Amino acid sequence: MSKFSKKNYQLASDTWDKLERNAIYKIVKSGQYTMGEKVRKFEKEFCKYLDTKNAVMVNSGSSANLLIMAALALKYRLKGNIIVPAVSWSTTYFPCNQYGFSLNFVDIDKNTLNLDIKKTQKAINSKTVAIMAVNLLGNSNDFRKLKTIAKKNNLILIEDNCESFGAISNTNQFTGTIGSFGSFSFFFSHHLQTMEGGMIVCKSKDDADFIKTLRAHGWVRDIDKKNKIYKHSGNNFNDSFTFITPGYNLRPLEFSGAVGSIQLKKWPSMRKKRISNANYFKKLFSQLNDRVLIQKEIGKSSWFGFSIILIGDLENKREEILKKLDQNKVMYRPIVSGNFMKNPVMKYLKYIDNKNYESANYLNKNGFFIGNDIINLKKNIKLVYEIISNIK
Ligand SMILES: Cc1ncc(COP(=O)(O)O)c(C=O)c1O
Repeated sequence: MSKFSKKNYQLASDTWDKLERNAIYKIVKSGQYTMGEKVRKFEKEFCKYLDTKNAVMVNSGSSANLLIMAALALKYRLKGNIIVPAVSWSTTYFPCNQYGFSLNFVDIDKNTLNLDIKKTQKAINSKTVAIMAVNLLGNSNDFRKLKTIAKKNNLILIEDNCESFGAISNTNQFTGTIGSFGSFSFFFSHHLQTMEGGMIVCKSKDDADFIKTLRAHGWVRDIDKKNKIYKHSGNNFNDSFTFITPGYNLRPLEFSGAVGSIQLKKWPSMRKKRISNANYFKKLFSQLNDRVLIQKEIGKSSWFGFSIILIGDLENKREEILKKLDQNKVMYRPIVSGNFMKNPVMKYLKYIDNKNYESANYLNKNGFFIGNDIINLKKNIKLVYEIISNIK
């Protein structure tokens, strides 16, 4: 249990130890605080682990989504709408609108919590340019089907993989590496923690180079000479301050790169602990399968947390259960956003309402989630199981 919490069951804990703290101390001693060698090293190691070619580290998962949208709008000159699931985090959606794309909201599948495939197919229209598949809570989308749909309709496939580092899809690939672009988050509660941090994985080196310029002021300085988006003049004085894209400053600190490398090394053992908790959760809650729905895996989930949707005689009893969880000091949250379309922010957004959000609405009323962690949660999971089982 974290030293910061008196909770019986918290959402997440700090997975750092002296290795991360020493790495930060070494950077302080070196004086190289700003993005440099350690960030580049982490990017390379990240690619190696995920068996992919191009990764660009940024300061958050939200920034990763923003730069993916910038690449679609600026490099590919795309305009139109993007398929998004009705259940996801706010900054899955905002960058799409900020770069002029309408959000084409599609219901999720109540079992997997990811895009409903049939409704996705139905929502595609002549102005659809991309599918933003969000792998929710560690679980992959059905990429066997989504890849076919994207190809058939000439759509760019993007993954918001901020909640699903380390998950494997039914295509036998790591999630986040399947689409043309994938985003990752290393925020505190996530699988790898640099506390703030994110990554973009791209299939194409040209896209990665374009995104590297967007990450830092729009300048060419961070791309190597062998690139297809800008021909360096050869004059270092001019090349150091040449701007080729309307970029930002979304660079990570060097600390984050160093910590990322350590967290990645620890990942196989952290993964085992998450999976062991998940196996226990699945075993216990499968005994309640006429009263709760738990997330059905596509491929192998990396189990960000455990979603619980109340069904049967437990339908509409969420308030009663949440009260009991409070009394027992168990932390919980909505399943990401619930149905995101119910948020007041919608008045600022440009979107297509496909009207049919039965599963997102059901989850909005009857769903919640509890955390997973790298500590043994068996007692904590049992506590939640008993609270729910004892509801009459
Ligand atoms: C699906 C999804 N996308 C994007 C983000 C944003 O990541 P960050 O908090 O690193 O900005 C999150 C954050 O949890 C998320 O869950």
